[in-house]
Amino acid sequence: MAGDPPVWPIPDEEVRLAIERAWADGSWGRYDGVHGQQLEQELARLHDAGFVTLCCSGTFAVELALRGLKIGSSDEVILAGYDFPGNFRAIEATGARPVLVDVQRDGWLLDIDQLPAALNGQTRAILISHLHGGIADMPRIMNFAHKHGLAVVEDACQAPGGLVAGRIAGSWGDVGILSFGGSKLLTAGRGGAIITRQAEVHQRAKVFCQRGNNAFPLSELQAAILLPQLAKLAERNQGRRANVERLLAHTHGLPGLRPLVNRTANSAPCYYKLAWRYSAAELRDCPIDEFVAALQAEGVPVDRGFRGFARRSGRRCRKIGPLPESQLAAETTLLLHHPILLEQPARIDDLARAIAKVAGAFANRVDGPN
Ligand SMILES: Cc1ncc(COP(=O)(O)O)c(C=O)c1O
Repeated sequence: MAGDPPVWPIPDEEVRLAIERAWADGSWGRYDGVHGQQLEQELARLHDAGFVTLCCSGTFAVELALRGLKIGSSDEVILAGYDFPGNFRAIEATGARPVLVDVQRDGWLLDIDQLPAALNGQTRAILISHLHGGIADMPRIMNFAHKHGLAVVEDACQAPGGLVAGRIAGSWGDVGILSFGGSKLLTAGRGGAIITRQAEVHQRAKVFCQRGNNAFPLSELQAAILLPQLAKLAERNQGRRANVERLLAHTHGLPGLRPLVNRTANSAPCYYKLAWRYSAAELRDCPIDEFVAALQAEGVPVDRGFRGFARRSGRRCRKIGPLPESQLAAETTLLLHHPILLEQPARIDDLARAIAKVAGAFANRVDGPN
């Protein structure tokens, strides 16, 4: 593929100016100040929530949410058998036991039909992630949770500003989670937030962070550089969506690649990653790593997915069945990184051609895997 690989974060004059202003007014050196307050207010408004707590990472934000919900030892928290690794650890960090439910066939989202089988007397919460461009069916999850008296933590780290059944991602759960990590759509290098309408959850989270000082903070400088990005989030999400539609149309029907399909009505996905399932059987049994390497050699910014939890020891978690789809997701996921999705349509067409070239070459190989 011609052209330099896109960089992230993209050069943004308004971010540069925000850094300069923070330098000039000394706010970069303060513990607390107007930037953090403004960010909290804007995130609260965007998510129609009363309370936002900024913190040091999305990983910690998940733990903070669980602590805010009073999850602890002797509790169980349900999550998908394929998810961000830190989510499993965040549950363990509270002393609770992760309970693994398989993901949907050919997808990356928790299979809601399997939730009833996961319930027992200790079940307290569901941790659900919008993953790899997929949008979880939050109305169904909330219905199920209300019926069974469970709390919901909605991880929108990969979907900031996405629309989920008519409402913004992160605003459905009892607590919503955002990440501002270095690769994320809103980035401050590091950082996270929890969002809630429940004053007690917010209060407990704040108390947990207090160790004589706020022990897990987002800095004023980080908040300052997030504000201009937040103002552009909707427009950039729209641009990424348009390019994903273009790319999927141009790569439709290629052998070996099954793209993500979103089924949650009235939703607008967010593309931090765009996922495919790789089918080696259609590509002369070539190992996925060879396919990824060939795409990367063509300049296509892809990688493999998470390792999933299907093989986690039964001592650390309770599994609802053998989690075959989670294991398949771990073995067959291909992820396109988002920075290229803000490029011009011609670049997206180049990208589609490069993917088609590699898929075609693998499908027609006479010699089999290297
Ligand atoms: C779904 C999901 N949840 C949580 C996180 C954690 O965010 P952070 O990197 O800010 O700790 C990530 C990071 O990639 C993620 O993808």
